[in-house]
Amino acid sequence: MLAYQLVYFVLLMHITRLSLTNFRNYGRLELDLPVGPSLIHGNNAQGKTNLLEAVYYLATTKSPHADQDQQLINWVAMQAEEPVIVGRLVAQISTSQGVKTIEMRLIYERSQSLRNGRGSFRREALVDKRKVRLMDLLGHLRVVMFLPEDVQLITGSPRQRRRYLDITLCQIDPLYCRTLSNYNKVLEQRNALLRQIAEGQSSRAMLPIYTEKLVKLGSRVLVRRARFVDELAREVHRIHYEALTEGRETVRLHYLPGLWHNKPGNNDTDTNGKGWAAWWQTHSQDEAAVAERFDEAVETSFAADLARGATSVGPHRDDWQFLLNGRSLSSYGSRGQQRTAILALKMAEINWMTGQTGEVPILLLDEVVAELDAQRRALLLDYVKDANQAFLTATDPAMFSLDFLRNASSFLVENGRVQLDTGQIGFS
Ligand SMILES: Nc1ncnc2c1ncn2[C@@H]1O[C@H](COP(=O)(O)OP(=O)(O)OP(=O)(O)O)[C@@H](O)[C@H]1O
Ligand SMILES: [Mg+2]
Repeated sequence: MLAYQLVYFVLLMHITRLSLTNFRNYGRLELDLPVGPSLIHGNNAQGKTNLLEAVYYLATTKSPHADQDQQLINWVAMQAEEPVIVGRLVAQISTSQGVKTIEMRLIYERSQSLRNGRGSFRREALVDKRKVRLMDLLGHLRVVMFLPEDVQLITGSPRQRRRYLDITLCQIDPLYCRTLSNYNKVLEQRNALLRQIAEGQSSRAMLPIYTEKLVKLGSRVLVRRARFVDELAREVHRIHYEALTEGRETVRLHYLPGLWHNKPGNNDTDTNGKGWAAWWQTHSQDEAAVAERFDEAVETSFAADLARGATSVGPHRDDWQFLLNGRSLSSYGSRGQQRTAILALKMAEINWMTGQTGEVPILLLDEVVAELDAQRRALLLDYVKDANQAFLTATDPAMFSLDFLRNASSFLVENGRVQLDTGQIGFS
């Protein structure tokens, strides 16, 4: 039995070694990582969150915290007079397909020609030491991250919610990621052309070419996102209803495609009094019908778009919302209800990713366990126990049960240094 379990573990996706150079407060870090849960503990401002951020960044090429990726480079290194400063993140991963190495480089080059001392910043991605497009780094390592600020997915901006959909989908669907990136490029080009037309610097002759591309790529993005939200919604509802509220409350996710002007909000009619939601429910997986609807919407908004110099319909205006017992969770939900829904969302994300790929993603939990009541904490730690690999940060390990600590590895983080605890935390 034990031998079987060992083989099972070794084959599944996990990081065996993490190396960081000039990343945040890590000047240099070489860390061997075990399978199963690891507790990352230490005082405030020592580097716990930064460690999780490094893993997340390697998986998604995005930071959950930094506004600009340049901020990720160690600021002590940035003060040196070197012409080129490189931040490096390297993970050795063991997967069912074998061992590989993935790497991200954050490169800041000081420009001699610029008097103000500013330079240029770029990123490079490598798989097994060979340079690849950033996008091709995705899918090698899959993570689900839990952050205290996740509740902003309910209360924050549509941009944050779109970002969540995109980052999650991109980890498992490279085609989606490519389509989205191409859509964003065409959108930028079309917007630039709209501005040129408005200023009389360009004719309208080229516009239909961009519009056609926009509609084709955009409808693929819309259809894929809608399917994803539907799949996630079912799982969120189940977990929330069965496990988290014991049948007392129902949560639904609602996808709001950016194809209608004046966002319809909660009611079921658009500005023309037509039932957009009913239309969407029957057509959301029909790419041709969605493309036709998108095309009509672009046509209708043309005059307004020309005046604004921007395209006002399309997946870049999508949103999605949580409904609790039929009402908007952001407007009416209590903080606790919002937290519970987010917990359901994240657990659903784990199940969804596992279902899509056959492998449990790596779990990253930053200080979230402290916020949960005993029952939810136990439920979440059950997920953590079943993951191939999970990293949990905490300032105070005492919040974990002895049973959990007995099965977890633990690391102490102090001022950008990480040390494996030899004795077990909580046992003297
Ligand atoms: N680019 C950077 N270069 C060097 N240090 C940085 C950089 N960005 C952030 N830091 C510092 O890294 C330190 C550790 O940050 P981190 O968020 O990982 O702390 P933490 O251990 O999670 O603390 P807390 O318990 O307060 O959440 C902080 O002092 C932060 O200011
Ligand atoms: Mg932290």
